[in-house]
Amino acid sequence: MSKTRVICFANNKGGSGKSTTCSNIGYSLTTLGYRVLLIDGDMQMNLTLSFFDDEKSLEYAKNGKNLYTAVKEQRDLTPYILNTDYENLDIIPSSTLMSGIEFDLFTKWQREFILKSGLASVKESGVYDYILIDAPPTLGCWVINIMCASDFIVIPVEASPWGLFGLANMFEFYEQVKRIAPSLELMGIAVTKANERKNYFKQTLENLGGLDNVRLFKSYIRTDSSIEWAQDNSKPVMVYKRSSRSAQEYLEMTKEVIEYANR
Ligand SMILES: Nc1ncnc2c1ncn2[C@@H]1O[C@H](COP(=O)(O)OP(=O)(O)OP(=O)(O)O)[C@@H](O)[C@H]1O
Ligand SMILES: [Mg+2]
Repeated sequence: MSKTRVICFANNKGGSGKSTTCSNIGYSLTTLGYRVLLIDGDMQMNLTLSFFDDEKSLEYAKNGKNLYTAVKEQRDLTPYILNTDYENLDIIPSSTLMSGIEFDLFTKWQREFILKSGLASVKESGVYDYILIDAPPTLGCWVINIMCASDFIVIPVEASPWGLFGLANMFEFYEQVKRIAPSLELMGIAVTKANERKNYFKQTLENLGGLDNVRLFKSYIRTDSSIEWAQDNSKPVMVYKRSSRSAQEYLEMTKEVIEYANR
């Protein structure tokens, strides 16, 4: 049985491409033969909505079959796993109630490790090659939980004038979390929504390239309307438009993820 790797996608900057990158790398991994579990850690439910329509997503949010209920009640996550329409791609949906998770965690013993404990048997079962967790754009106890449950963190950064704003806070937060999760590794920064014709794209790459001890994914994801259309149809971009540029780019990024995770 192979080892299960847990990777989270986190950045406190909103709209940096966390959910898009998590869902599309998740799907791309299955096309390369891997078994994948996606976990939606955000009250916005964008990862859930990437695979189910609004009605179904809201039903999961309301009926208690979601990550929020599992974490609040400190349960094993196995019974919360749902199949998606795709082979070897499962998901634990989120709930809008996730907005109250910080409050719920506050009174719990070892509150930073609730998600890690809930995931332990899923991880040990070896059913999945990869577990990918989509984090919300916050830096609190819940994101500490997500990072403590992960082997690797990927930080998606939008190639925009404000894309790098707050990144120093993110690095500082990562360093702090590493004190209680020493095995957590920064896999790299994934540049998203890139437009090669814009000056700030070059600037973003230069600024990121100049950072010490920070690895940048070689592949980056350019701005592409296929991504939005795919999301509007609750589909991975590879399924919505296989020939699209972003489908190819996410596949290349996925190969880098696999290479890094297997070093
Ligand atoms: N490569 C791309 N091309 C075009 N649009 C994109 C691309 N990547 C992401 N988007 C769009 O940008 C928006 C933000 O992306 P996404 O939701 O993945 O970011 P996020 O970091 O998860 O946001 P949040 O912090 O709110 O969770 C979405 O509307 C998405 O459709
Ligand atoms: Mg998101």
